[in-house]
Amino acid sequence: MSRRAPASREPGDDLIVPRSVAVIMDGNGRWAKSAGFERIRGHERGVDAVRTTVTECARLGVDTLTLYAFSEENWARPAREVKLLFGLLERFLVAELPTLMDNDVRLLHAGRTARLPDKVKRLLDDTIAKTAGNGGMRLCLAISYGGRQEIADAVRRIADEVAAGTLSPDAVDEAAIRSRLYQPELPDPDLLIRTAGELRISNFLLWQVSYAEIHVSDVCWPDFGQAQLHDAFRDYGRRVRKFGKVL
Ligand code: IPE
Ligand code: IPE
Ligand code: MG
Repeated sequence: MSRRAPASREPGDDLIVPRSVAVIMDGNGRWAKSAGFERIRGHERGVDAVRTTVTECARLGVDTLTLYAFSEENWARPAREVKLLFGLLERFLVAELPTLMDNDVRLLHAGRTARLPDKVKRLLDDTIAKTAGNGGMRLCLAISYGGRQEIADAVRRIADEVAAGTLSPDAVDEAAIRSRLYQPELPDPDLLIRTAGELRISNFLLWQVSYAEIHVSDVCWPDFGQAQLHDAFRDYGRRVRKFGKVL
């Protein structure tokens, strides 16, 4: 028996909709360069692509969508670009609240908060609180996020608990680590999409992507629309997931 991806079907189409989708939104800079613009214009257009993917995933019944918006390593970019990116994030959080509410989307954050600008922190908290009652898709924004840092933070918490005598070293297993990740309730991605043709993980969800199916799209993120998302889901639907077993 072949084990197909667990999924729901879009009526009248051959789309297999994964339960949990994660996206490395890459190529904003290249998109801008090829169009003769400054990099920031690529990030601006990237926000439109975020709206398209969020609403389409919500419409199709995706349970969890995790978007890689800013990595821990992205802090090393020029200060001006970082500032502009956080400015865009602020605008996104304000402008897209109605879209999130209309689509019954609940916002979550994965990442470290220490270096986030105060205004971004406040807006993130506000939007998370305002959407907390929405029962549709969970949208997790990975901001100031790194997979290694996430695992290191979990291990440090475990070490503190062991030192305090509230956790036995014998109880340190996979479940103990998972439960201390940034968003332990979210399901592991079934499908990981990366745009702009790069074949790497770039420190994204290292723990959670163990058995994710990977789809790489050649288009840069600002050009990633419904058609490309559907292609990714069709590709996913053709995969046979084995999880190490013999089928
Ligand atoms: C992705 O686009 C957006 C972020 C990492 C914030 P890039 O800015 O990495 O675009 P390229 O890779 O330089 O084209
Ligand atoms: C990954 O893209 C991070 C985000 C999409 C937020 P990068 O552009 O930072 O990754 P590398 O540098 O190409 O690996
Ligand atoms: Mg990039």
